[in-house]
Amino acid sequence: MGAVLAPSILSADFARLGAEIEATEAGGAGMIHVDVMDGHFVPNITIGPLVAAAVRKVTQLPVDCHLMIEQPARYAEDFVQAGADMISVHIETDPHLQGTLARIRQLGAKAGVVLNPSTPLSSLTEILPEVDYVLLMSVNPGFGGQKLIPSVLRKARELREWIDREGFAARIEIDGGVHLGNLDDVVGSGVDMIVAGSAVFGADAGAQSATETLVKRLAELAERGHCC
Ligand code: DX5
Ligand code: ZN
Repeated sequence: MGAVLAPSILSADFARLGAEIEATEAGGAGMIHVDVMDGHFVPNITIGPLVAAAVRKVTQLPVDCHLMIEQPARYAEDFVQAGADMISVHIETDPHLQGTLARIRQLGAKAGVVLNPSTPLSSLTEILPEVDYVLLMSVNPGFGGQKLIPSVLRKARELREWIDREGFAARIEIDGGVHLGNLDDVVGSGVDMIVAGSAVFGADAGAQSATETLVKRLAELAERGHCC
């Protein structure tokens, strides 16, 4: 199975959010990525559980909430109640990570841990066997439309090898700066889920067409076998 595309609604037209999401679903998106920012952990403020609940109403796809907030455990239940299927929290902001992830799973959602570009893979040593997925940031979180930091692809390859070697269940998601021009390299790094915001919603051709183009390329790469 090839990698799945997760359009990030951060770059969508929020006045037309339902139609934007439906367009990506029609284009073959595999899940919807929701970027939650609090103005503390990251400099930007975006959306909360109310909007996540609105997203839930317009799509059958898994809703993937990426929490870029301090004290994520305080809000996990609100996002599950809003309909999130997946919730990820940043390792850099949670001193009680194991407990937070256990709580997310107990609430019935998949639990993910997020690493900023400068956070080493070694920080996962104690938690990797227990996580449903690892989200590797390929930009510094806070804003859409940034450039992918190339060293994160090496990090993804190392994580892929580590997970496969140990037989862990964790899947790998990558987030930030992905577009058609670097998609082959991103897939070659062995990731399972690929977030794309501006490449989907900022495309001149429109969100459905941009999604179709990216998903078609993912299918071609999967046919060839996704490693280098
Ligand atoms: C960045 C967010 C990303 C972002 C991706 O903090 O976590 O999900 O929306 O946007 P692009 O694909 O434009 O880099
Ligand atoms: Zn994100």
